Parts: sequence; structure tokens; C-alpha cells
Amino acid sequence: MAKVLATMRLIVGALALMVAVALTAPVSAQQPSSVNPTASAVKEQQLLDQLKTIKGLGTIPDTKSYVIEHPVGRGWREFHNVTLRWIGAVAILGMLALLIVFYLWRGMVRIERGRAGRSIVRFNAFERFVHWMTATCFVILAITGLNVTFGRPLFAASGGSEAFTVWSEWAKYAHNYLSFPFTIGVILIFLMWIAGNIPNSVDVEWLKRGGGIVGHDHPPAYRFNAGQKAIYWIVVLGGGLTAVTGYVLLFPFYGTDIDSMQYAEMIHAVTAMLFIAVMLAHIYIGTIGMEGAFEAMGEGTVDINWAKEHHSLWLEEEMARTGPNKSKRQPVAAE
Ligand code: HEM
Repeated sequence: MAKVLATMRLIVGALALMVAVALTAPVSAQQPSSVNPTASAVKEQQLLDQLKTIKGLGTIPDTKSYVIEHPVGRGWREFHNVTLRWIGAVAILGMLALLIVFYLWRGMVRIERGRAGRSIVRFNAFERFVHWMTATCFVILAITGLNVTFGRPLFAASGGSEAFTVWSEWAKYAHNYLSFPFTIGVILIFLMWIAGNIPNSVDVEWLKRGGGIVGHDHPPAYRFNAGQKAIYWIVVLGGGLTAVTGYVLLFPFYGTDIDSMQYAEMIHAVTAMLFIAVMLAHIYIGTIGMEGAFEAMGEGTVDINWAKEHHSLWLEEEMARTGPNKSKRQPVAAE
């Protein structure tokens, strides 16, 4: 009897095993074809397109932090890591290349009739202080801002990450805090020189004659010529735009959301790149590009012959008003 029971248990067990195998076999046989990792699973891109944003749940009060993926964020990252770098590199390196070629072709614009040895005041101490304060801030803002755009790939290429971290932290502080004197400088420049920078008919003539930079022409100009007026308005408007968008970035989410922050960054960065390129041309003409120009902002005076060649109408006005100042540097030469 015990033997019969044992045999029956064996048969039932074997049958149960067969049934189990029969039931599971078709499922496992179907497994590879039923799960299609590309077709049946929802792709990340489909999910993003469908939902636009992937949000999680959170407990901290800042609900923005619950956003895990945001399709616009990807577009922004592509802009920041690729498009912006191209815009910056083309604008800045392109301008540098252009200036080098121009310098090699044209050389320094000389005072054609030589120095008179007598000078006239062009910018007073306050004007020069404002100019140099704003210019110093600008250069530091430009270098530290470019570090945000290009720092990582450049420093990664040269191998140092610890040094890059330390430098970037200081650079960020400098960028944030120097924004204030820079903004004050732009406002003062606007107020200080607006009177001389309103476009007029003399500018049309100056532009028609290419500012005299090509060849040896000297079109007349008042205190500021059309080229300088363009620089003035680029500083005022470009500086204003970088300041406004910069403060949007500096004080995030005060009346802004992620989208407007991204737009602010894009405008800030592109304006900054173009601004830097234009300022390179300004620095060029104020130094190696034109004889006698630097001393206008360095010492505040210019040689009478320089003024005759580049700002003849302004010189006439000034002579009528005050008469020329005697230069402290050089003896007074007979005219
Ligand atoms: C009032 C003036 C300014 C303020 C408040 C300001 C503020 C800012 C802030 C908060 C950032 C973001 C930095 C980060 O992501 O950590 C930034 C980036 C940047 N700034 Fe300024 N900035 C000002 C002026 C300038 C000027 C004058 C220039 C150029 C001459 C400049 C060039 C840049 C550049 C190139 C970036 C990096 C853009 C990027 O790659 O995302 N900024 N600025």
C-alpha cells in the first residue's frame, strides 16, 4: 500500500511538473519577441513631446525643483554649449583677425602735418575717471563672462580642474560685483556725452567719406565723429541691455520663470559677444590704430594738429570759446 501511494505521489508530482512547464513554456518562448525595446517602450523623446515637461514630486517649498526634464532646457543647453560658442568665437576672433589685417594694410593713422606742439583739453578729469572705471569693469566683466562660456572646454583641454574651480569662483564674484560700477559708468557716460552724440548732417558727410580712415582724407567733425557716435550708442544700448539682462540672471525668479531666464541669458550672452568684438575695434583705434588718440583719454589733452585733422569743427568751436591751452609737455611752436 505504501509502495502504491509513493508511486502515485511520483506520478502526480511528475504531472504537476509537466503542467507547470507546459504553462510557462509558451510565455518564455514569447518573451524575446513581446518586449521590443524600441517600438513598444515609450521613448524619452515621445514622452517629452507628449508632456513637454517631466515633473516629480517634492516636499521643499521651491516647486521649480520638482521639474526633472524640460524640453526647452535642452534647446538652451544646445545654444549655450554650441551656438553661443560659435557666435562668440566668430565675432571675437573674426574681429581680431580683421584688425590685424587692417593694421598690416593701413598701419597707424599718423598726424599728417606732424605735431604742432600745442595742445587743447579734450576730456576733463571726471570724464576720464568715468571712462577708465567703466572700461576696467568692462574688461573684467568680459574676461570673467567669457570664462562662463569657454572656461570649461579651455581648462579641460589644459588639464586642470581644481585651479579652474578656484578661478571660476573668484571670477563669478568679480562678475557679480563689478556689474554695479559698470552700470553706474554706463549711466554716467550716457548723461555726460549725450549732447555731443546726437546724429546730424555732418555725420552723413563723414560716413560718405569713410571717416577718412581709408586714404588720407580728413572729413570735418564736431567733438565726436560718426564712428565715435556709433561706439557711444553701442555702449549705451549694448551696456544697458547687458546690464538689464545681467540683473535678471543675478536675481533669479524675481518676476521671471525658467523660460524668461533662458531668454535673458541668451540675450545677455549674444549682446556681450558682439559688444566685446566692437570694443576691440574701439581699443584698436584708441591705441595702435591712430597716432595721438590715446593721450585724449590718457592725459586729457590732444595736439592741435590732431584736432585739426580729426575734429576740425570742434576745434573751431573750442578756439572761439577758450583759445588753445599751452602744452606742458612740449614747447609752444610757432604756427
Ligand atoms: C550690469 C552688468 C552685468 C551683470 C549684472 C551681469 C551678470 C551676469 C550673470 C549673473 C551671468 C551668469 C553667470 C553664470 O551663469 O554663472 C552673466 C554671464 C555672462 N556675462 Fe554678464 N553681467 C553684466 C555685464 C556683462 C558685460 C559688460 C559683459 C561683456 C563685456 C558680460 C559678459 C557675460 C558673458 C559672456 C556671460 C556668459 C554667458 C554664458 O555663457 O551663459 N556681462 N552675467
